[in-house]
Amino acid sequence: MKAYRAALLRFDDDQRPVYDADGLLVVGPDAQGRQVVRAVGDHARLIGNYPGVAVEDLSGMLIAPGFIDMHVHYPQTDVIGAPAAGLLPWLENYTFPHESRFHEAHHAREVADFFLDELARNGVTTALTFATSHPASVDAIFEAARTRGLRFITGKVLQDRHSPDGVRDETEQSLIDTEALIQRWHGVERLGYAITPRFAPTSTPEQLRGAGDLAAKYSDVWVQSHVAENLDEVRWAAELFPKSRSYLGVYGDFGLLRQRAVYAHCIHLDKADRELMAATGTTAAVSPTSNQFLGSGFFDYLAADAAGMGYGLASDVGGGTSFSPFRTMLAAYCIGREGQTKQGLSLTPGQLWWQHTAGAARALGLEGVVGNLQPGHEADFLVLNPKATPLLARKTSQADNLDELLFALIVLGDDRVVKRTVIARNL
Ligand code: GUN
Ligand code: ZN
Repeated sequence: MKAYRAALLRFDDDQRPVYDADGLLVVGPDAQGRQVVRAVGDHARLIGNYPGVAVEDLSGMLIAPGFIDMHVHYPQTDVIGAPAAGLLPWLENYTFPHESRFHEAHHAREVADFFLDELARNGVTTALTFATSHPASVDAIFEAARTRGLRFITGKVLQDRHSPDGVRDETEQSLIDTEALIQRWHGVERLGYAITPRFAPTSTPEQLRGAGDLAAKYSDVWVQSHVAENLDEVRWAAELFPKSRSYLGVYGDFGLLRQRAVYAHCIHLDKADRELMAATGTTAAVSPTSNQFLGSGFFDYLAADAAGMGYGLASDVGGGTSFSPFRTMLAAYCIGREGQTKQGLSLTPGQLWWQHTAGAARALGLEGVVGNLQPGHEADFLVLNPKATPLLARKTSQADNLDELLFALIVLGDDRVVKRTVIARNL
C-alpha cells in the first residue's frame, strides 16, 4: 500500500465534485490483485488508520482522476492541424493518405508509442481510439498499451466502400479479421475491443450487418463509429440508406445501437434520434475542438439532457486540435454557450470535468472501474500543479471556491499542469 497527501478532487454519485484541501489517497491491491483506491478523504481523519504506510507528500498539488478520452484516432496523430473545406475533403485529402501507411507494423508501433506518450503527458489514462483498417495497426497499439498497463479500447476500422485503395478493406475478410482480433485482445489484462465501422457511408449494408452480428455475439465488446457530424455527410448517408428513418437509424437497423456503443459527434440529430440513443443505452462522444476546427456544428447539451442521452468528452484528434483535456473542456464550454443555432447554456466547471472523467466512464460502461477516485476504482490518477504558469499561479491563488479553482485550470491549463500521470499498475 502507498498513500499520497495533497488536495484531492473526485465526484459523488450525483456528479458533483468533492474536494479535500488537505486530502489523503490510499492505494493498494484488492482481492484480485488490482491496484485500486483503498481510501480517500481528509488527511487528518484518515491518516491514523494507516500506520506504517508510506505517505508521499505532494502538498501544493491537486490529485485528480485520470482523464478519459471517449473518441480519438491514434493514426491521425500526424493529421492534427490539416486544413480542409470540411469533413469530407479533410478525409479524402489528408486522413486517408496518412492512414494508408498503417499496414506497416513498424510505422504503426512508432506512432502508437508517440500517441500513448502524448496521452500520458496530457493526463489521459484511458481512451477509446480508432486504429485503421489494417489489423497490424490494432496489434501495434494494443501491444504498446499493454506494455504500459493501460485500460484501453480500440478496434480495426471497417470501410469496404467509398474509400481509396490503401485503406479500403474487403467485406468478408474484414469481419473475419475483426472476430480474430476480438479473440486475441478483448479482456486481455485491461484491454478491450471495439467493433469499428468508420461511418455508414464507407460501409456496405453487408459489412454493417456483419458488424451488427458480431456486436450481438460479443455483447461486452464496444462499438464505435461516427454519426451526424456534418450536413454534407448527413445528406450522403440519406442517399445511401433511403429506407432508414435517419442517419442514426441506419446503425439501429443493423443492430449497432446498444450499451457500450459510442458515436462521435451526434450534432445533427432530431428528437427521435436522441430518444433512440437513450432507449438503447447508446452514448455520444462530444468532440468540441474537432467540431470547431472542421466547422461541423454544435452539440446540443440541453436537447441531449431532455432525451436522457449519455455522453462524455473526446479530443477526436486529428480532426480535434489538441490532446489536452483542458483544451477540450474549454471548447465544450464554448460549444455549450453557443446560442444562435440552439439554446445556449453555461456548463459548470464541475460538469465539464465530470464529462471527461466519471461521466466518460459511465458513458463507456466503465462506471465504478475508472474515471473517479472513490474506493474500489482502479488507481489511475494525476498529480496536477495549479501553479504551473505565472498566470495560473496568480488566478488559482485568488480562487475563493472550488468552481473558481477548476475554472481557472480549465481556461488556462494545458499539459504544463500535468506533473505526473500514475497508471494503476505502475505504483
Ligand atoms: N467520419 C468518418 N471518418 C472520420 C474521421 O476520421 N474523423 C472525423 N472527425 N469524422 C469522421
Ligand atoms: Zn473521429
